[in-house]
Amino acid sequence: MVDPFSADTRSATLLVEAPAKINLHLEVLGLRSDGFHELAMVMQSLDLADRLAMEPRSDGAIVLRCHDSTLPTDGSNLVVRAAELLRQHTGRPELGATIELEKRIPIGAGLAGGSSDGAAALLGLNRLWGLQLGDSTLQQLAAELGSDVPFTLSGGTQLCFGRGEVLEPVPLSEAGPRALGPQGTEELGVLLIKDPAASVSTPWAYGRCRELRGDFYLEYESDFEQRRQSLRDGALLAALHGERALPPLRNDLQAVVEPEQQSVRTGLALLRQAIDPLAVAMSGSGPSLFALFAGLERAEAARDQLRDRLADAGFEVWCCRCSSMGVRIVQPDQVP
Ligand code: C5P
Repeated sequence: MVDPFSADTRSATLLVEAPAKINLHLEVLGLRSDGFHELAMVMQSLDLADRLAMEPRSDGAIVLRCHDSTLPTDGSNLVVRAAELLRQHTGRPELGATIELEKRIPIGAGLAGGSSDGAAALLGLNRLWGLQLGDSTLQQLAAELGSDVPFTLSGGTQLCFGRGEVLEPVPLSEAGPRALGPQGTEELGVLLIKDPAASVSTPWAYGRCRELRGDFYLEYESDFEQRRQSLRDGALLAALHGERALPPLRNDLQAVVEPEQQSVRTGLALLRQAIDPLAVAMSGSGPSLFALFAGLERAEAARDQLRDRLADAGFEVWCCRCSSMGVRIVQPDQVP
């Protein structure tokens, strides 16, 4: 197979980065008439990212390849669905591409890796095929692909409402979110863990949430808006501006998944043993878990401190930073 990241081939290839996200807040407000849940979330991009290399094809085929053979590369993959949606939307069925996906984000983890790959395909193929679709059209197509795809397209730190597709950017400095740590305000470092043997179905998690909490769901738009406003005005956003310490993070799906998944309980308990975590939570519908620290160095120190215990419990581990960027086209000469 041709390595699209090699010096010989990269100049002819469009490269796109697709960052992971974590949920700093996931609140289930109620049930919508379309069967989805009405949410109030704060989503945060990470500098852990997949990479997609794209080349045009003249035979009209959409060919997706991935070094990880556990990932489906057929029409169920959001990359292929994004390509097909673009062809359909523009009435250009003859457009073809070969897309090489370098997977770095753990699969099926609640980190929106698949959604971000789909967003990267929208952005990259729009450029590769010269379609000149504007941001709002891409956002609209992203919402058709999935609830997390619009956020991953623009990324950074955003409030996400509706089923996740109604976005309100949180205006932060270039450096991204900050939080008060032991030595003042610092950027957020992230220690991320996932048990490779564990998986959670997102529809199952929302279905179970409805079973357990459906009787307490809010029903009226005015009540939804009140919750949105308290999130906008609340302690979490103030903390991300560096104005106060991080409050405990809320993820309503964590309360649903934790009793059912031993690895989530074990992982949360291990992360809470770290030195000086600012917060510990599950991301999305799980099963990946994260701890936030004041600075990347503290996240790395916690990884070193917990290395043996995490390895004994079978967890894979990543350290990264919060990032202010969504999917983006990477110039070939910027690729290491
Ligand atoms: O939109 P996406 O394909 O990511 O959603 C996957 C599933 O998660 C949906 O089919 C639905 O069961 C559930 N979901 C939900 N409410 C949301 C987002 C997702 O119930 N806001």
